[in-house]
Amino acid sequence: MKKIVIAIDGPSASGKSTIAKALAKTLHYAYVDSGAMYRAVTLYFLENNIPIDHPETVATALPKITIRFQRKEQGNRTILNGQDVESEIRQMRVSEYVSQVSAISAVRREMVRQQQLMGKHKGIVMDGRDIGTVVFPEAEVKIFVTADIKERARRRYTELNKKGIQVTYDAVLENLHERDRIDSTRAVGPLRKADDAFEIDNSHLGLEEQLELAIKIVETKIGEKM
Ligand code: CDP
Repeated sequence: MKKIVIAIDGPSASGKSTIAKALAKTLHYAYVDSGAMYRAVTLYFLENNIPIDHPETVATALPKITIRFQRKEQGNRTILNGQDVESEIRQMRVSEYVSQVSAISAVRREMVRQQQLMGKHKGIVMDGRDIGTVVFPEAEVKIFVTADIKERARRRYTELNKKGIQVTYDAVLENLHERDRIDSTRAVGPLRKADDAFEIDNSHLGLEEQLELAIKIVETKIGEKM
């Protein structure tokens, strides 16, 4: 079967990664969570007191950041400069800062460059905000995943609670509102549905129905059954 690129975009906590991971597993493709990369940069900036309003300091810091992914049985791990930061990057202190860091054009330039390298040989599913519009505008399959914000907040709140992260539903909802706002209004690579993307609103869809839809979209595009 010919290898393709699958770009999945959508707002925070819309369930993009669930669809992306399931598609990657079915197709035996690599899966890249581009949001984890922006979260890792944010963690680095926080831990090294990098002022985001100081372009020279940001430019000097970027080459010192190496991000890679490690595939483990329990899921993908994000490795920042050799350290497993998978848990840290999901904490609220990172969520509260990540959209500001992601709006910096030098940060986006570097992340997009690395993401394009990862997809050079195709056979990849990547999720994020600008994958179908900026990173892989030529992707064979583009899916835009949305859901009602209250439903997204409920899902993220449950997810964080399960991980033992102390947070209130209202704080999660407020964070999603703020990130949606910054992510969709920034000048570089804003969150936007690509013109040729299929939209899946999963506010009222179960996981199975959602995956069926995604698989149908891929099959239609590649003209083969998965
Ligand atoms: O998991 P969640 O949906 O909360 O977000 P994420 O995918 O982990 O992304 C975290 C943040 O990174 C987003 O709110 C964006 O500010 C930024 N991001 C981005 O700017 N571009 C991407 N391709 C992916 C994420």
